[in-house]
Amino acid sequence: MTSDKRQMTNITQPSNFSTIDQPSFPTCVRVCQNRTCKKQGAAKVLAAFTTLAIPGVTVTDSSCLGQCGNGPMVLVLPDMVWYSRVQPDEVSLLVEQHLLGGQRVKQMLYYRFHS
Ligand code: FES
Repeated sequence: MTSDKRQMTNITQPSNFSTIDQPSFPTCVRVCQNRTCKKQGAAKVLAAFTTLAIPGVTVTDSSCLGQCGNGPMVLVLPDMVWYSRVQPDEVSLLVEQHLLGGQRVKQMLYYRFHS
């Protein structure tokens, strides 16, 4: 019974949880290479990403991201930022502004998930 009281008391004590470092996940760019996105030029978009060396960023192909018809779809993790209808000549802007500069490219954001 004494230990139960101690536990209940501890719940009301200030927590130092916020001082604990949260794990950080590396940035990953997923470029859909499934059928519909591929018909819309996704292979060239992936190629444009892979020709650029982006420090600390992994670029991978992806199976269907579930947004067929709005591609080529690009998903930036872990932030869950979606880009739609990405064209190969827009990749350098996305890399410079978002991946290196930390600012989303508003005009390329996927309207269903970002307003
Ligand atoms: S084929 Fe790319 S989102 Fe489905």
